[in-house]
Amino acid sequence: MRRAAGSCAALCDSRGHAAEGEGGRQTGTMTQEPKQEAKKVFIKSYGCQMNVYDAHRMADVLAPEGFAETSAMEDADLVVLNTCHIREKAAEKVYSELGRVRAVKRERAAEGRDVQVVVAGCVAQAEGGEILRRNAGVDLVVGPQSYHRLPTLLAEARRTPGVVDTDFPAETKFDALPAASGERTLARGVSAFLTVQEGCDKFCTFCVVPYTRGAEASRPVGAIVAEAQRLAAAGVRELTLLGQNVNAYHGEAEEGGAASLAGLLRRLARIPGIERLRYTTSHPRDMAGPDGAWELVAAHRDIPELMPYLHLPVQSGSDAILEAMNRKHGRDEYLRIIDRVRAARPDIALSSDFIVGFPGESDVDFAGTMRLIEEVGFASSFSFKYSPRPGTPASELDGQVPEDVKSERLAALQALLDSQTKAFNAATLGRTVDVLLEKPGRHPGQLGGKSPYLQAVHIEDPAARVGDIVPVTITSLGSNSLAGVRAGTGYKASA
Ligand code: 5AD
Ligand code: SF4
Repeated sequence: MRRAAGSCAALCDSRGHAAEGEGGRQTGTMTQEPKQEAKKVFIKSYGCQMNVYDAHRMADVLAPEGFAETSAMEDADLVVLNTCHIREKAAEKVYSELGRVRAVKRERAAEGRDVQVVVAGCVAQAEGGEILRRNAGVDLVVGPQSYHRLPTLLAEARRTPGVVDTDFPAETKFDALPAASGERTLARGVSAFLTVQEGCDKFCTFCVVPYTRGAEASRPVGAIVAEAQRLAAAGVRELTLLGQNVNAYHGEAEEGGAASLAGLLRRLARIPGIERLRYTTSHPRDMAGPDGAWELVAAHRDIPELMPYLHLPVQSGSDAILEAMNRKHGRDEYLRIIDRVRAARPDIALSSDFIVGFPGESDVDFAGTMRLIEEVGFASSFSFKYSPRPGTPASELDGQVPEDVKSERLAALQALLDSQTKAFNAATLGRTVDVLLEKPGRHPGQLGGKSPYLQAVHIEDPAARVGDIVPVTITSLGSNSLAGVRAGTGYKASA
């Protein structure tokens, strides 16, 4: 496998991108708009939050080319599958979706309309030209570092379909990607992702990210601040800083030298309008910081805007497995970090990723993971069966664990994690927490948002608006969300 660009962070669901089409909506007879119909792009993202961010940036680079987003593949002139390679299942999904895309392309061709098909993201990076060989009808394969070149690559693919760009260009895509309009930014929500770091140098033996997202690189503080200021001016109130190893962040500081993630968070907290900051995904080895000063842990104590939530993947609770995974830390080291974090911010919600059935994992190793979970107590977590990935060292290890054993262990682990999530949520019952209202609920007057601990919360409050941060007393627990009532008038109203 070539060393190239990936994506980490724990949200491993697939999400379509269905922004309201700006030029796609019917404008009526009063309009002075040109008669020519806007071209439409359908972007479907798989995998982590960074792919969600990347999809937005792809839409931003295509907007000046006349492309409006559509949520219906059938309406699109351009279909982009923004793929994930982290586990076999994620990668397979793309190939089955390509079957559907091919059928749509054929139907449109019969009507005399051309549909261009792009495979982007980590499968594109890892598999490159192989995608073209396996899938007639794909016009362009583009890796995550080349999105700024999309217009040029699409023009090239129009002349000669079958273009592949999985290079790691010398220039960074971030300098060349245009910003979304304020209106489009706000349509994406009051909570926004912002990529500050990409790539990974850790080389965990199970993971494709160092090959698909490339070497670790951090964006300069100035560029991040400028993007954050634009987002804030559009009405964004919460930023989640993204990076495969976000706490290894070491971008150029505004005053020169390198900034740490804690320094970056302190700077972003000063931006008017930004009320909440989060970051993901962190590596235990980088929690202490390069100088061992535990600045990031102190940031959780000292920065009010930094939400009390930490996603810190541990993967396993067995030292032998952690060693075989090349995680570069043991279980005790992880537990000591958690103690430090809790000492700084006692109410912090902790979350982690777990892999069960890594090669060589015995019942005793697995029991060690269960014990670690019991010792820590997680508010939420993501857990996966080990999936052998081509080209990674672990895929060649002896002692691959049978599928039924993986399934059994995953079920036991998830039952324990679920019970901890329920206990964490139950502990908020009767408490008053600030909720950032993110979207209207199912019925009139209902709004949904997030607590500081990233719990979904619903309130009934006809006076409240999306973007408000409201104190809410939690009154009941649902299966996936909490419900509450507004407590007093301590509003941080949206601008
Ligand atoms: N198999 C299963 N899970 C994996 N992850 C990464 N690679 C694999 C793999 N080969 C999980 C890890 C990581 C999360 C993003 O995905 O838990 O933290
Ligand atoms: Fe993958 Fe490990 Fe890097 Fe996370 S730290 S992206 S699991 S190699």
